[in-house]
Amino acid sequence: MTITIKDEAGINGMRIAGQLTAQVLDYLAPFVKPGVTTNELDQLAEDYTTKVLHAISAPLNYDPSGHNPYPKSICTSINHQVCHGIPNDKPLKKGDILNVDVTVIKDGWHGDSSRMYIVGEASIAAKRLCALTYEALWHGILQVKPGAHLGDIGHAIQKFAEGHGLSVVREFCGHGIGQKFHEEPQVLHYGRPGTLDELKEGMTLTIEPMLNAGRKEIKELGDRWTIVTKDHSLSAQWEHTILVTPTGYEVLTLSEGCPKPPAFVKP
Ligand code: MF3
Ligand code: CO
Ligand code: CO
Repeated sequence: MTITIKDEAGINGMRIAGQLTAQVLDYLAPFVKPGVTTNELDQLAEDYTTKVLHAISAPLNYDPSGHNPYPKSICTSINHQVCHGIPNDKPLKKGDILNVDVTVIKDGWHGDSSRMYIVGEASIAAKRLCALTYEALWHGILQVKPGAHLGDIGHAIQKFAEGHGLSVVREFCGHGIGQKFHEEPQVLHYGRPGTLDELKEGMTLTIEPMLNAGRKEIKELGDRWTIVTKDHSLSAQWEHTILVTPTGYEVLTLSEGCPKPPAFVKP
């Protein structure tokens, strides 16, 4: 049970996979409008990934449990859905908030990123949840450097989230990533500073906080993938893939179309 360290070739592979992942999310943005179905977004993502990027959608047939393969190319989680929502034929409606989670494999390397999209225009509360969850992700990212601990990331996210009256989902976490979709370590979005594994140069991991407007408890739907809030409160998530550099972090899944880092992130 070890955390993989990427060498120069691995880092290069991860940079490319991360860029392609961000390109899929950029490509989808103009299609997210009232009336579009998540199955249409899924098909657009699959076609773009395979035909334009010559890459593979990692979620399609992904089967960590060994008896419930994921049936689609992306995850689409709407409103009170926390994560792993399965695309379907129901049209999006104005005011929905949608998380699209894309994982691309290129030359054996994985990139994993998700963003929130607002369908038409949303309520102030929904927009606030999306914006604060994005800030929470960056509070976690800012902890990343050699010698820091995974608990520092979790603590920064939890402190910020709970300080704004939001709750942190416990059952799902970020993860190491590389030639496997989900590698060690687990990257919890709550915790205590100075605890858990120490970060080392060359590690690649995701940070992907799921924050709820209401209580933190979740449940799994009968499709055995979709996770929703137990109290049906809104939930948001943002995800980036991060490289631990000699002095800090490099976000591998940035692109033109992703929102600028919050003002508290110094260039
Ligand atoms: N992309 C998700 C993550 O960030 C995992 C989705 S697994 C799937 O880890 F099978 F639902 F696609
Ligand atoms: Co992930
Ligand atoms: Co993901």
